[in-house]
Amino acid sequence: MCPPRVRKRAWNQARRARRSAQGSRLSLAKKLCIKTYGCQMNVYDSGRMADLLAPLGYDTTEDAAEADLVILNTCHIREKAAEKVYSDVGRLRDLRAERNARGGGGLTIAVAGCVAQAEGAEIMRRAPAVDLVVGPQAYHRLPELIARAHRSKGEALDTDFPVDSKFDHLPQQHRVEGSAAFLTIQEGCDKFCTFCVVPYTRGAETSRPVGAVLAEARHLAGLGAQEITLLGQNVNAYHGEAPDGGAPWSLARLAAALAEIPGLARIRYTTSHPRDMDDTLIAAHGRLPQLMPFLHLPVQSGSDRILDQMNRRHTADDYRQVIAKLRAARPDIALSSDFIVGFPGESERDFQATLDLVTEIGFAQAYSFKYSPRPGTPASMMADSLPEEVKSERLARLQAAIAEGQRRFNEACVGRILPVLFDRPGRRPGQLVGRSPYMHAVHAEVPAHLSGRILDVVIDSAHPNSLGGHLADPAEAAA
Ligand code: 5AD
Ligand code: SF4
Repeated sequence: MCPPRVRKRAWNQARRARRSAQGSRLSLAKKLCIKTYGCQMNVYDSGRMADLLAPLGYDTTEDAAEADLVILNTCHIREKAAEKVYSDVGRLRDLRAERNARGGGGLTIAVAGCVAQAEGAEIMRRAPAVDLVVGPQAYHRLPELIARAHRSKGEALDTDFPVDSKFDHLPQQHRVEGSAAFLTIQEGCDKFCTFCVVPYTRGAETSRPVGAVLAEARHLAGLGAQEITLLGQNVNAYHGEAPDGGAPWSLARLAAALAEIPGLARIRYTTSHPRDMDDTLIAAHGRLPQLMPFLHLPVQSGSDRILDQMNRRHTADDYRQVIAKLRAARPDIALSSDFIVGFPGESERDFQATLDLVTEIGFAQAYSFKYSPRPGTPASMMADSLPEEVKSERLARLQAAIAEGQRRFNEACVGRILPVLFDRPGRRPGQLVGRSPYMHAVHAEVPAHLSGRILDVVIDSAHPNSLGGHLADPAEAAA
């Protein structure tokens, strides 16, 4: 699950990419609607699918009612997300029937993403309205699959993990939204946490070669990206093929090379595993000013017993130590995390250990979820599942503790001078909105012509999800 603030930005970026793809449309434009669920990786993938289909004449729309092709880019991480797909397919089926009754054009329904990967054949069986199913590793084959679906329905299912990387077949990204861009550098996961479907839906850990990543980053910087978020399910396990055929590069080494790219002022990466937070990466946070002092590092639970049952292969103390080292390397670093409550067998004492960890670390923000058993995962076979009311009650307590941490962090920003990347108009005239190093939206009176600049802002107000401030150097407004 991705942080909503990141997701909103990612969604805008994908939408822009799709819009810009319209430039290359053929005269007989067809309409494509992509609905994206789940993480920022899916948002990135949706943008790439739109780029891929633009040369086939697909113009994008947000409105399924006017689309010739609808792609549901799905998420399988929790039950609710997966079930939504079937209700959306039902709505699209009705739309198609209505259109047919009116003698209108056809509607092709495609299911992509992690539900497609996990339940491809099941989708074809349970939802016959679906014309084609494509897994996250095979979407570069969409044009061929669409043609196949139009010829004969029922054959267009591709959930392979092809040996040839999809990245070798995708066009370059077209445009950068608001000075920020996403770049997938790693996919899949070999960690096999017992609750998680990712190792099954996204497959084994693979890293894109360093040369391809640097080329895409330079391209994005050339398009105006000042901030790049490196994406991967287990991004800090990155080990990309070296440009010179030498030993694979780590994320720390990659970040150092990215920091050399002119114009790239900010580098982020997400999502990471505590076990892969090695000393070189921690040291990079101290050495590279471009690495933003904000890290999403999921811990899931504060109880060693539960962490063991989750197969996290670290203890709560290991996590504390990583945080202590990060803070020593980069004292202004802020942290974010993911938590699961109500894992099978979680006692009140285990849960209390999670609450204690939240209070002790002081997260700037965090995401918390009720445990949801996923088919085929080891945890789904575990006894001692907890009643829904217990999960809900714990979730509410945890969220209150997280909100308190976030409030404190935001308030502690008041009086600080933070560099803000301004890239959007504010709600009020004369205002721009930008992003702090900590992903806050920051509102300030800034002339519109300074959009796209990183400016020092004195923070003078804190809100639950945003900050307000004024330019540290008023002369800048006149510049
Ligand atoms: N139930 C609840 N939350 C889950 N997550 C992953 N799998 C599950 C599950 N089965 C959460 C974890 C992970 C985030 C992306 O989603 O906290 O870090
Ligand atoms: Fe899932 Fe664990 Fe891999 Fe994260 S590290 S993607 S939670 S298996």
